Amino acid sequence: MNKKLIVANFKMHFNVQEASLYLNNLNKLTSIHRSVEVALAPPFISLQPLRLEIDPRKFKLCAQNGYYQDEGAFTGEVSFALLKNLVHFVIIGHSERRIYFHEDLELIRDKMAACVRNGLTPILCIGENKSERISKETKKVLHDQISTALYNLTLDEVANVVIAYEPIWAISTFGGEIPKPREIQSAIDFIRFEVSELFGSKVSNQVKILYGGSVNSDLVSAYLSLEGCNGALVGGASLNYQEFAKIIQKAYLIDRQG
Ligand code: PGA
Repeated sequence: MNKKLIVANFKMHFNVQEASLYLNNLNKLTSIHRSVEVALAPPFISLQPLRLEIDPRKFKLCAQNGYYQDEGAFTGEVSFALLKNLVHFVIIGHSERRIYFHEDLELIRDKMAACVRNGLTPILCIGENKSERISKETKKVLHDQISTALYNLTLDEVANVVIAYEPIWAISTFGGEIPKPREIQSAIDFIRFEVSELFGSKVSNQVKILYGGSVNSDLVSAYLSLEGCNGALVGGASLNYQEFAKIIQKAYLIDRQG
């Protein structure tokens, strides 16, 4: 069974105390669910404290980034090797990393390989920007991002990858345009087609594909109901635990209807 996955990306918000309080509050509003997985991605400093507090039956931890070298003189970086046994997921190639920190296709490819080599599940973020969308380059952009990121992975490793389609123009801090569900459907279909072309349909059907970009509790059901949409990556709306709890509730409902 392909469980739905709902991920809260706190970005650079919440200190350790705030993250702990958030977890406590969210915990009260959520229950253990057999087919909806929830992951929390706080800043690095809160991963270890949250790990001691989290109910692993309800929540998994996710890092927002990782470095591809396992260890060495890389001041300020945190490797996937250091994240091993601490988190389940790592977000790789988020558009903010690509744009503000100039992460290119090759770096993201190396991060993907390091992530799976260390036994962690990558959440690979892909998506076109507004001008690429206008000039109808979306498929080319997605093709380049998918084919390079997965380049050094085996079939089994690709089957375990999560891909988050996050059109940059839809992310709340980059414009926050609300995409029509049919636009997201065609991108999801294209992503599955690309993975199938590269790794075969069996692998392609196992890959989880999430949608991300201005998701909130009003919009989430329409995206989660799309064929082949396996969850959501939530930024701004996840910062409010009540709102994030509502998003999780909507995922439970979709599961019951589906
Ligand atoms: P948003 O962010 O939900 O605030 O648009 C999503 C993301 O950047 O992952």
